[in-house]
Amino acid sequence: MGLKTIKDLDLSGKRVILRVDFNVPLSEGVVTDSTRIEMALPTIRYILDQPGASLIVMTHLGRPKGEKKPELSLAPVAKKFSELLGRDVKMAPDCIGEEVQQLAQELNPGEVMLLENLRFYKEETNNDSEFSKALASLADVYVNDAFGTAHRAHASTEGTAKYLPAAAGFLIEKEVAFFGKLLTNPEKPFAAVIGGAKVSSKIGVLETLLEKCDDIIIGGAMAYTFLKVQGYEIGESLFEEEYSRTAENFLKAAEQQGVRIILPLDHIAGKEFSETAEPISVDGIDIPEGLIGMDIGPKTLAAVEQALKKAASIVWNGPMGVFEMKQFAQGTLKVAEMVASCDGTTVVGGGDSVAAVNKFGFADRIDHVSTGGGASLEFLEGRVLPGIAALES
Ligand code: 3PG
Repeated sequence: MGLKTIKDLDLSGKRVILRVDFNVPLSEGVVTDSTRIEMALPTIRYILDQPGASLIVMTHLGRPKGEKKPELSLAPVAKKFSELLGRDVKMAPDCIGEEVQQLAQELNPGEVMLLENLRFYKEETNNDSEFSKALASLADVYVNDAFGTAHRAHASTEGTAKYLPAAAGFLIEKEVAFFGKLLTNPEKPFAAVIGGAKVSSKIGVLETLLEKCDDIIIGGAMAYTFLKVQGYEIGESLFEEEYSRTAENFLKAAEQQGVRIILPLDHIAGKEFSETAEPISVDGIDIPEGLIGMDIGPKTLAAVEQALKKAASIVWNGPMGVFEMKQFAQGTLKVAEMVASCDGTTVVGGGDSVAAVNKFGFADRIDHVSTGGGASLEFLEGRVLPGIAALES
């Protein structure tokens, strides 16, 4: 089955409804990171370049759970979107209903309208078919470019595709191409860097990658459960006891399959999990009592470098330590730098690691920085994403 893409559709003279993921961070009514808007612009510009086409854009923002919460209105997003697009964007008062219908019909070729937050209706997350039909009735053609929401089977991501000619935008196409290649036919050696707080949220990805990778580097708080089951002392670091067996089995399977697992060899620890905690170097694998592992140390970084230097493909998901705290950011910073310096194909996915590459200024040197958090994780777990499955022909 192939993904139907926007170029498979004839958009001339059509009113196009486009699902994007403009679930962007806001502070005091101002968009603080517009990456997701920027990443959808190639699709938006392509649609607007088609003769006679007009555009209705729809997205969710936050989790208002079916309530019309003014603080989650898309008005500030419309403002930023209009600035970045360099054209007027009409802000609709709602996302369905007579008034919106009227406004949609009045759109002239080249005009753009942004619908109000889809999640002001619980029918959106319930994938209600009447709601999907109401959205579909606004336009002639449906395009989905909301990769970040593709793991949700919602009315606007899955349902609407049933009622109109449907295709993927360029962003979904690009995300699927990068992640798909890693899962089906990666350039070897293939190294994965997996971090983050919990084994429970990353074990699915680790198990999938075990079948594909040559080296897997495990960092972040989740690494301590793997160290503990190998008999090391982890002090007061996070230990997910209920995942001990899973961690043991994973390490055993890796050994049997000849996949090299790199776990922390040394640490930067703290006495408490706080902004003011003093960084304490722990020069071996065991962490003394009273200390919490907060970042990987220089010996670990040297081992990571060895693996990443020879990699022809790298996927990175999850930070190596508490990078939001400056004194525990070095491990993540250095790994970001190593990924950026790799000559092979590099893909970064997951909210925190993406935030890290942006924060440290390496995003431009990475082949693909995903716009998906949960979606990229589920993709890497090898799961079917309903928003993408709906666009397959
Ligand atoms: C995200 O930010 O990961 C997506 O926009 C999906 O948001 P959700 O987790 O609220 O569905």
